[in-house]
Amino acid sequence: MDQRIDCIFKLISNESKGICDVGTDHGYLPIRLAAEGFSGNIIATDINIKPLKRAESNAENADVSGDRITFCRCDGLPEHLSDRFDTAVIAGMGGDLICSIIDRADWIFSDRYSLILQPMTRPEVLRYYLVNNGFSISSDMLVEDRGRIYQIIKCSFTSVNDSYSDLELFCGKESRCNDQHLYKSLLRKIKMNLNAIIAGSASSDDRSRIAFYRSIVGEI
Ligand SMILES: C[S@@+](CC[C@H](N)C(=O)[O-])C[C@H]1O[C@@H](n2cnc3c(N)ncnc32)[C@H](O)[C@@H]1O
Repeated sequence: MDQRIDCIFKLISNESKGICDVGTDHGYLPIRLAAEGFSGNIIATDINIKPLKRAESNAENADVSGDRITFCRCDGLPEHLSDRFDTAVIAGMGGDLICSIIDRADWIFSDRYSLILQPMTRPEVLRYYLVNNGFSISSDMLVEDRGRIYQIIKCSFTSVNDSYSDLELFCGKESRCNDQHLYKSLLRKIKMNLNAIIAGSASSDDRSRIAFYRSIVGEI
């Protein structure tokens, strides 16, 4: 089990009435929940039939009983199952795609739900969207797996807009992070990546974007 899925698993409350893993692919998270006796409903969705079939067959191979996980082919968050879960996981996708999945589900803008989000790219876009649309981030977890640092955000709708600095949009608030050592490594990686973009930018590149990146590097 990779560190990333393990961290998401540990963020799910035992008291939860159910989870929905959006874009489940291999189904590792729902299978782990079922195997470890999670008592709530377990829903696994994917927009594509092939990954959904893969998740079903992985569940069979792991001896997870056929009716323990509800597999559902759908695009984004399944409104028709919305009363069966209180925790939605959207992991392993780009930050922009996660924003658009949340944005298309107005019913998820409710304090009934917790969201656990793991963007593979553009975490700053996702955090900007969350904190400007009434979601409060309660934890910003970092895990390292095979040399890559993953960011895992837990949040819920409170209708209050939080205030984040530009740098905090990229890496979360240090005070809500689980690992100060990884936080510092993440800052170094962000600085390196932004410096590479700045150095590689042609003179015709978007000047305001480069100035923004320079200011982030300056903050670090
Ligand atoms: C890279 S996999 C991530 C799998 C797993 N969530 C993880 O974190 O390891 C992304 C999955 O999201 C699915 N997906 C992409 N867009 C989606 C959408 N709008 N609704 C549901 N699933 C989606 C893809 O078919 C793919 O199986």
